[in-house]
Amino acid sequence: MSNLSAQRSSAEDLAKTFVQLSQNYAGNCADPYPIYAEKRASSPVYAGDLLRDMGVPSLAAGLTGTRPVYSLLKYADVQAALIDTKTFSLSPYREMFGPVQGETIQMLEGDPHQFWRRMLTNIFQKSVLDSWLERLFAPTILRSVKAIAPRGKAELLGDLMLGFPAEVVYQMIGLPADDKDMLHQFQEWALLMAMGGLADFRNPEQAVKATATAQKALDELTTHITKIVAERRRQGATGDDLLSAMINARVDGQALSDFDVIQFTRSLLPAAAETTTRSFANAMALLLERPDQLNRLREDRSLIMGAMNEALRYEATAGALPRVTTRDVEVRGVTIPEGTGVNLLVNAANRDEDAYPNAENFDITRRGKAGLGFGYGPHMCMGLQLAKMEMESALNAMFDHMPNLRLDPDADFRGVQGIHFRTPPSVPVIWDC
Ligand code: HEM
Repeated sequence: MSNLSAQRSSAEDLAKTFVQLSQNYAGNCADPYPIYAEKRASSPVYAGDLLRDMGVPSLAAGLTGTRPVYSLLKYADVQAALIDTKTFSLSPYREMFGPVQGETIQMLEGDPHQFWRRMLTNIFQKSVLDSWLERLFAPTILRSVKAIAPRGKAELLGDLMLGFPAEVVYQMIGLPADDKDMLHQFQEWALLMAMGGLADFRNPEQAVKATATAQKALDELTTHITKIVAERRRQGATGDDLLSAMINARVDGQALSDFDVIQFTRSLLPAAAETTTRSFANAMALLLERPDQLNRLREDRSLIMGAMNEALRYEATAGALPRVTTRDVEVRGVTIPEGTGVNLLVNAANRDEDAYPNAENFDITRRGKAGLGFGYGPHMCMGLQLAKMEMESALNAMFDHMPNLRLDPDADFRGVQGIHFRTPPSVPVIWDC
């Protein structure tokens, strides 16, 4: 048994780890939106590191936190920078996550990146996602919701949302559904890897420790996935799981190597688990704070997808996407020099009145352009459909089995908080039963 497995943490410890990660990035104000509104009006191309001003380390500033940084706040500017990856390079990902995660799709450009995009577009087809949803994810969330339904009370983050998205990845890979220990280990790896990649220059000792733990988690995960990939190949890769799909996939006749399959699979955990947990928690917090809109949704489930889109606009969990300029570039008359870190402030852009009328209003019936919470352009999220399907299915299960779901009036609910990884620290609810 590995050291990590030997020290396996409880579900409660996992929840604590998750909240601690959020707190690391909580900064010095619970609500950054008034600051965003003021800066959007006065200096939309802000010559400084607005995240750092609010007490949060920014990935754009680099490992040591010393790279000069500009911050973009307008929707049109953030969107244009996301499209122009030649000028606004994604190199901070390689710098920060490369040592822990190895080379991931986010670190690629040009033809190798295109190859992966085409490969993954083939694999994550809507029909495949629909079949996974029906066969795997929906029954899983339903089982989890039914298990807590008789209680009439829950803390949704720890009791439901933290485990579910990692379990989805676990199931996609085709790991044994009845091996609860393995599943728990998987969920733990996901969190430890997320913790390690986010080096915090304010606390170098803790950052070194977190990176080492993350590295260890990644090594264990890699050993595990390597065995499974070899086994799948030996058995002919005939299943309808993600690994078999990757083994069989071709783009222009070119297949993926075992190394590619392993590398992508292990990068999925940090990309797909924590992000979905936070986004779902944000959506629930927003709805629970607005019982009229929650009730409307319960009565008309056709509004759920639109509501999820609105939640992802209103409270994007990855509030800042990091870039570095590869040349001098002018934005709104301001020259950002080559080699500057740039914070693309998605949460500021998503509340830009020039992009959304009444942008500060959360409205589940809002239609129009999508928020930038999944990025935009060449590196836009490849899992957005899956994430939204997970959230929709979870919400449906809750509506069906938790009548009159509402905030627990006796619990301490603080709403969505933080600057970078925005999430509520807890989502305490009650329902009739
Ligand atoms: C609500 C949950 C999610 C959120 C908020 C989210 C957010 C994002 C964002 C913002 C990016 C672009 C980063 C940038 O441009 O700097 C991204 C990329 C990516 N996401 Fe997600 N993601 C979510 C769920 C998922 C899931 C479930 C998967 C996997 C099935 C996934 C796979 C990916 C991949 C592979 C990329 C890299 C695409 C590329 O570089 O070409 N994501 N995600």
